[in-house]
Amino acid sequence: MAHGTGPAMAHDAGPVMAHGAGPAVVPALTPAAALEMAPAPAIAPAAQPLAPAEGDQAAWEALRTEVLSCTKCTLHKTRTQGVVGVGPRRTEWMVIGEAPGAEEDRRGEPFVGRAGHLLDAMLHAIGLNRGMNVYIANVLKSRPPGNRDPKPEEVVACLPYLMRQIALLQPRLMLAVGRIAAQNLLATDLSLSRLRGKVHHFGELNTPLIVTYHPAYLLRTPADKRKAWEDLKFARSVFRQLTDRVGTHGHLT
Ligand code: URA
Repeated sequence: MAHGTGPAMAHDAGPVMAHGAGPAVVPALTPAAALEMAPAPAIAPAAQPLAPAEGDQAAWEALRTEVLSCTKCTLHKTRTQGVVGVGPRRTEWMVIGEAPGAEEDRRGEPFVGRAGHLLDAMLHAIGLNRGMNVYIANVLKSRPPGNRDPKPEEVVACLPYLMRQIALLQPRLMLAVGRIAAQNLLATDLSLSRLRGKVHHFGELNTPLIVTYHPAYLLRTPADKRKAWEDLKFARSVFRQLTDRVGTHGHLT
């Protein structure tokens, strides 16, 4: 895993978290814990966050300012605040959900409600930790009232922000959680079950993208946690293949 030279790590929301300075250590998979999706007590030190590329800081700040003052769709009238994203501004994993819910709208950080706790547990199971080695964002930056599905015109208005985040991060692997995120990112109306279990490719950089269930769905349908665990193991194995082929500075070996 590539390492940055400095401690620079910025968050678009939430507290700055302490980070390990050692090499990437991915904990052993713990299927039982993952299937239960119980929050893991602690994970091994993760990768030292990558330093943001030169010039990217300003681009991130501009993006944040624009999202927080955005009036491109009517959701700005009902939201408390825009929710940009959370995590290091250079990282190899990116998780993309649908839209902020009530708690996210209140706190200004994605996935901090009940579904967010489950998402954290899912990510822990494959060695990922928000603020440390995964960036989390949503398709929509503003909460739809009553958590209804995003309207097409809202997605059209908001997607450019996500595209800018992806361009800045250049993640090695993207994980779309839930049907709405997956369908919008892949411009398809295929069902989630048809989209799971394969590697899709996103954008000009052909970034590998894997689809799994939304944690809110898993809270309602715990029997499908087993399938989500299969998705996570699949994502981790794809990531390992990618990092086996690509050297520490992003060059093909
Ligand atoms: N559901 C999402 O898709 N995103 C959030 O940030 C919270 C809940």
